[in-house]
Amino acid sequence: MDAVRVALLGCGVVGSEVARLLTEHAGELAQRVGAPVQLAGVAVRNPDAPRNFAVDPGLITTDAQELVKRADVVVELMGGIEPARTLILDAMASGASVVTANKALLGQDGPRLYAAAAEQGVDLYYEASVAGGIPLLRPLRESLAGDRINRVLGIVNGTTNYVLDQMHRTGAEFDAAVASAQALGYAEADPTADVEGFDAASKAAILASLAFHTRVSVDDVYREGITGVTASTVASAKAMGAVIKLLAICERVTAADGTERVSVRVHPALLPESHPLAGVRDAFNAVFVEADAAGELMFYGQGAGGAPTASAVLGDVITAARNRVAGSLGPGESAYAQLPVRPMGEV
Ligand code: HSE
Repeated sequence: MDAVRVALLGCGVVGSEVARLLTEHAGELAQRVGAPVQLAGVAVRNPDAPRNFAVDPGLITTDAQELVKRADVVVELMGGIEPARTLILDAMASGASVVTANKALLGQDGPRLYAAAAEQGVDLYYEASVAGGIPLLRPLRESLAGDRINRVLGIVNGTTNYVLDQMHRTGAEFDAAVASAQALGYAEADPTADVEGFDAASKAAILASLAFHTRVSVDDVYREGITGVTASTVASAKAMGAVIKLLAICERVTAADGTERVSVRVHPALLPESHPLAGVRDAFNAVFVEADAAGELMFYGQGAGGAPTASAVLGDVITAARNRVAGSLGPGESAYAQLPVRPMGEV
């Protein structure tokens, strides 16, 4: 293979870091892949917008649909449902493998994307969609594929962890802690997706699908955000030797009729200070996994930000590129497309 052509859709904080790493580390990435990994184009809405990395202007285009047709690996970093979904499906239809960080799309339409990838014989990787730079989805999908996972508890939203941690440490009220998160650039001007748990619910659907080898959509996830948590609730928890964390909880449960079900929920939860997740501070993410054979595992690190998220994206790009060079596919593509839907448990 002469070169693996990579198309980038979106060039914000994460996209420009991916472009920088692909450009500046081109030599060593080529060695790791066995062929040059070439940035073939970057599709953006506004070519003149300021960027953290000065992408070669000759690579910038506003025609994403044309770009995906001439790529081997398409990296979707636009976010949102449309036009991301159409572009991903178009890319797969043209034979390109896809790397995406789009948790909202995967949480809503993951099975459709798996099915399209399997049908077209291309890879679909999305490590950056949950917990940013933490290697988490690959371990669930591959390293633990022979084990039986019983429970996943995740702090998968850095903004809300920062807010709750501030409230716990300083006694601040919710609004003041959100303002502080906004000042530091963690929370958006409109923090709804984070504080109401929408972001964590999409991530919970992805985690549960991988952990339990099933298909969970964001609509199956019970969701409650942290807007009802007050300084007084946090103080009461603290007095009990506990912390309040927004958790994504994915569990196998046995229903009254004896059937095995999956329960997936996002809500503020009380954790004893001795629990490994209780000490997760600031905007960090951490995911605690309980498996039959492996026992307890903890994944910890930066769940957001340009560089950590770009690290996860680039890992996926390298894997997809290696597969292209080898003429192979990642593990389980067609198996994932055919996973059964398990009944959901009562929350
Ligand atoms: N808003 C998200 C968070 C960004 O705060 O964790 C990463 O998905």
